[in-house]
Amino acid sequence: MQKRTIVALPGDGIGRVVLEETIRVLESAGFKADYVEGDIGWEFWKKEGNPLPDRTIALLEKHKIGLFGAITSKPKDAAAAELDPSLHDKGFIYSSPIVGLRQHFNLDICIRPCRTYKGNPLNFIRRGAGSSIEEPEVDVVIFRQNTEGLYGGVEWSNPPDLVYQGLKSHPKFMKNFGQVPKDELSISTRIFTKRATERILRAAFEYAKKYGYRSVTVCEKPNVIRETSGMMYKMAQEIQANDFPGIELWNTNIDAQMMWLTKNPENYGVIVAGNMFGDIVSDGFAGLIGGLGFACSANLGEEVSVFEPTHGSAPKYADYPVSIVNPIAMTESACMMLDHIGEAALAQKIRKAIASVIQEGKVRTYDMMKMAGRADVIEKGAASTREMADAIIAKL
Ligand code: NAI
Ligand code: MG
Repeated sequence: MQKRTIVALPGDGIGRVVLEETIRVLESAGFKADYVEGDIGWEFWKKEGNPLPDRTIALLEKHKIGLFGAITSKPKDAAAAELDPSLHDKGFIYSSPIVGLRQHFNLDICIRPCRTYKGNPLNFIRRGAGSSIEEPEVDVVIFRQNTEGLYGGVEWSNPPDLVYQGLKSHPKFMKNFGQVPKDELSISTRIFTKRATERILRAAFEYAKKYGYRSVTVCEKPNVIRETSGMMYKMAQEIQANDFPGIELWNTNIDAQMMWLTKNPENYGVIVAGNMFGDIVSDGFAGLIGGLGFACSANLGEEVSVFEPTHGSAPKYADYPVSIVNPIAMTESACMMLDHIGEAALAQKIRKAIASVIQEGKVRTYDMMKMAGRADVIEKGAASTREMADAIIAKL
């Protein structure tokens, strides 16, 4: 095995502990790597006025692979108030460093798998016929376009004249908003490009083919959002017909999908969507397989890739003397990293270990025990973050 260098980006709050424990799991599984730590997050915002320092960008440029914990974000004004006094009034404006990473390295393909672990007490159950209870097995992989759409950042309140004139050239704008004073308008755009849309669609189809999924579902709203959603679905039809005839193409609307996901989640395979709908539908499916303690993700670009749990820094648990949070979402994200760099066998080994800890049911973090998250959960029998990692390591 070639020895790798991984950029470890612990970030803030519980990001630090879940990353540390995950690296222990990786090492115990036999993954050979050096870890260089990249500075990112709130501490660097406060000290330097930049939560994503250039030196961190340079590290990722050099080593290409990042393992990211989580960061703390706050609204603009709250962020400004916490800046070091020497940096006040110097024009620093806070923006999320993980969004910044996705934009800087064009990490446009986000993959969020949601898979049921047998024996997880957090698995979704539903009523079957009569008084029976069913526990459908979810095996869904969401492909979310990660850089464009509603999160592309092209937005205005009280838009500049040029924009306003452009909008006025649209008959629908004139009809619906033509009488609204300009300074009462807020506008967030939803821009899709052909290039990025094709990349996310192809990534979804290729994944379905490689891992034997029957269907790819485009989850948008093409009947209403005709231009962007419409373009995505039309391109999906072409790609499917030309290059993936063996895979079924399904089309669902995001709203209906959120209803169906509790009715028949086992029917879906690969799902692909734009940025915001992908965010929504992936949180929906994550809720069926255990929630934030289990939700992992990959952000893939052409050069650089960053792997992260979808949860945040959970500040209220950050300073507990013994950490109580579930490290599995982070460990699973590291498994996605292993898949990506050609270490799929190691990834499978770790997933098997996680599966067997869950199935056995002896070691469970507080979320798996359905406790409210408080420092006393350990006394009440919940496993700590470290104990969960130890249990996984023992199975390895
Ligand atoms: P959060 O994901 O940090 O926490 C929400 C709640 O989910 C926690 O209070 C806890 O009950 C539970 N939870 C989260 N991770 C868990 C784990 N590993 N095990 C068990 N339970 C877990 O979201 P919240 O509270 O909305 O945001 C906190 C901070 O994190 C904010 O500053 C927010 O901006 C930031 N954030 C950062 C993200 C990132 O780094 N990618 C993503 C989401 C939020
Ligand atoms: Mg989200």
